[in-house]
Amino acid sequence: TSRVRTRDLKLAKERGEKWAMLTSYDQYTAAMFDEIGIPALLIGDSAANNVFGYETTLPVTIDELLPLVSAVVRSTKRTLVVADLPFGSYEASPQQALESAVRFMKAGANAVKLEGGVRMREQIAALTGAGIPVMAHIGFTPQSENLVGGYRVAGRGEHADSVLADAYAVAEAGAFAVVLEMVMSDVAARVTKELEIPTIGIGAGGDTDAQVLVWQDMAGLRQGPAPRFVKRYANVASVIAEAAKTYADEVKNGAFPAPEHGFH
Ligand code: KIV
Ligand code: NA
Repeated sequence: TSRVRTRDLKLAKERGEKWAMLTSYDQYTAAMFDEIGIPALLIGDSAANNVFGYETTLPVTIDELLPLVSAVVRSTKRTLVVADLPFGSYEASPQQALESAVRFMKAGANAVKLEGGVRMREQIAALTGAGIPVMAHIGFTPQSENLVGGYRVAGRGEHADSVLADAYAVAEAGAFAVVLEMVMSDVAARVTKELEIPTIGIGAGGDTDAQVLVWQDMAGLRQGPAPRFVKRYANVASVIAEAAKTYADEVKNGAFPAPEHGFH
């Protein structure tokens, strides 16, 4: 195949080319994003909220995410497919992380992502040692929401040092890229400059090497208030709601189906 490789993302950084990552959890968006040249797609544990209707990312399991990973793999040709390790599937030990990651790799993923910096060193080293590329995720990490006390910006004031320590730790352990979520922009810029691996920002300002958004946020399928870091590029929710409403109205008033929709 001619899939994007982790090496290509590093080369993009060396050339100073920015790129966009999106989440995807299904056939149609995966094929669409692949076709328009999105170089990396993430089957995020955000499927918990955006597919399965959970309140947080904590309940979602590997068994729930695996079929979504397979769907995205089957529906794409070029993009690097990254599968998110869900809460509870890697924290206990490097061995647990390896067993979980292997399940996603056997489903066709090209890399896995996990949350945590310094505390995930051993897991990252074990996975890369087994030939599995790892995308790290530091700053605000949604799976730790209960410990952190809600959605919080990372890297304020003296906490900049802990974000930097996490960034160095994941790079040293072998991560090929790192997501910076809700990190103060100046800290994210510094991390981006100092690390050789690409940084992928979400709520981390404009100086990271790449950006990532949840596709339902980007396209406006999710309604209601969104975090500040979201930009809605369309209002897909209103398009679908309008179509469904018109369809239902036409069924009620007899306009659908018309003769051409039947077999005569
Ligand atoms: O699960 C997810 O969608 C993510 C991205 C927002 C980075 O982790
Ligand atoms: Na995630």
